[in-house]
Amino acid sequence: MPKEIRTEKQYDLTIIGAGPGGYHAAIRAAQYGAKVALIEKNKLGGTCLNRGCIPTKALLASAHYLEKMDDAEDFGITINDYKVDFAKVVERKNRIVNELGAGIADLQKAWKNDLYIGHGKILGGNYENGFEVQIQGEINDEIILTKRIIIATGSTPALIPNFNVDHKRILTSDDILDPHFKTIPKHLLIIGAGVIGCEFADIFANFGSKVTILEYLPSPIAAEEPLIIKQIQKKFDSMGVEIKTSQNVLLVENIGSGVKAVTCSASVPSDQIETAEKSTFEADLCLISIGRDKVIQNLGLEELGITTHRGAIEVDPSTLETAVHGIFAIGDVNGGLMLAHVASYEGDIAVANALSSLKKFQVSSKQTNYRVIPSTIFTSPNIGSVGLKRKQAKDLGIDILVGQFPYTSLGKAKCMGEEGLLIILADKHTLQIVGASCIGEGASELIAEITLAMQHGLTIEDITHTIHSHPTLSEMVLEAAEAVVGRAVHKKGRPIGPKLRDILMEQFAYGIEKI
Ligand code: FAD
Ligand code: NAI
Repeated sequence: MPKEIRTEKQYDLTIIGAGPGGYHAAIRAAQYGAKVALIEKNKLGGTCLNRGCIPTKALLASAHYLEKMDDAEDFGITINDYKVDFAKVVERKNRIVNELGAGIADLQKAWKNDLYIGHGKILGGNYENGFEVQIQGEINDEIILTKRIIIATGSTPALIPNFNVDHKRILTSDDILDPHFKTIPKHLLIIGAGVIGCEFADIFANFGSKVTILEYLPSPIAAEEPLIIKQIQKKFDSMGVEIKTSQNVLLVENIGSGVKAVTCSASVPSDQIETAEKSTFEADLCLISIGRDKVIQNLGLEELGITTHRGAIEVDPSTLETAVHGIFAIGDVNGGLMLAHVASYEGDIAVANALSSLKKFQVSSKQTNYRVIPSTIFTSPNIGSVGLKRKQAKDLGIDILVGQFPYTSLGKAKCMGEEGLLIILADKHTLQIVGASCIGEGASELIAEITLAMQHGLTIEDITHTIHSHPTLSEMVLEAAEAVVGRAVHKKGRPIGPKLRDILMEQFAYGIEKI
């Protein structure tokens, strides 16, 4: 039977996709007084809530609880017996996801946003007269009219034909985070030692799986500071997680009783792969975590003239407008950093720019600024970073001073039994903070102070003149900032050249001009 098509409702702004980019943008637009349609074909909250940030962090919380139990003896507590009920771990994860999803639905309702469940597709239109958007629902199709559009359709796991993902033994993160997945594999093979690979390795190694990771590059999480990579590798070694680097994975297949991956060295040129020496790895299940593809199918992009580049929607990097005036793209789908907080931030920018062009709103346009973006890998220990890494600073020709402080020298960390390291980089001439990397308990939170400092162009001196509560992990930030100029109190001094020391001491005494 043909589907009924109705055209009636008119909106200021229509958002396609209700992940952290789209649902956040919808609320922001309503706060400005806009009439908003939010279209979602699956569940509110998108990848982040249903198949990403939140379910992984719920599983990691259980895994880290277990890890703490293993250390209990050191803290004077003997635990004679306990057992893991992974079904309950998964139920807790599902409950958290469901509660947060209901919260998002409540918020959309409170802001009087209209929620459409179905696949959104832009049919046509223009900046002056507005656009037509079709919602392909299970029962009915509907067409709405809208003045402006934000595309926030996100991303899905990248797949390679040779990796034969069958969702039974060869899985993506979507499969493992499915509400019904309740298996702890005896041996888990992970392809890709990026963020997803490392977080899942941490989860399953803690629950008792043997974990082997195959990574193409010479190092896991290759973009991080080398010292930090060394520490996480050490931690993984202690957990029995095996990371095989420089592996070109040629094939992954389900062999009935398990999975098999065939690799050769990543250094073998592509025309010599056939004759190259191969290695074989077998396990019970395999997770493919080699990056993500942007969701751009069946959105009406080509027909409208919205351009794409390497699978992502092209946008003006400062306004987030696509090649079609009045249509914006935010979050994973525009090819920028794939982080939930970046998607939400971009939502704010795109909403301001979409509504500023409509006379009835008193909204100023906004430009993006990506200089200060924090990120965290939620392994235990956490890895948090913001701004530049040492190599990036060198490549950009920025002269830097480096301050490092170990957790083992901090009273609070010692009480907590935590190890780790915080590195702060500052511009040698201005002492402005240009980056920081941290591995250790609470790194994700410690990095927030440095993020705020960087956002406001603050210097090492601004941090060292701030009183930090004792005993807290936040004193790591104070000590690492002091270490930048060789003045950390709880660390032996690192001699810096007499001339530089004089300059720095003078700056400390009189304050320095901020750029
Ligand atoms: P998405 O969250 O992907 O949402 C897009 C939504 O659009 C989806 O709900 C989809 O169903 C919908 N959609 C697509 N096409 C249509 C259409 N045509 N019509 C209607 N609806 C449509 N980031 C962090 O910052 N921190 C983390 O800890 C973190 N952990 C992660 C863990 C995992 C396992 C994964 C996979 C990702 C993680 N991320 C994390 C990344 C984060 O999830 C994404 O960057 C973020 O979800 C992107 O938000 P988005 O709104 O752009 O897209
Ligand atoms: P990723 O880009 O972080 O890592 C993929 C890894 O797979 C890389 O190290 C790459 O070298 C390797 N790889 C690629 N192809 C390979 C092959 N054929 N054989 C072997 N190794 C191969 O991508 P990942 O882990 O899939 O995560 C996707 C995105 O999700 C990340 O970019 C991140 O932005 C986001 N994310 C963020 C999290 C957080 O903020 N805590 C957590 C999880 C995901």
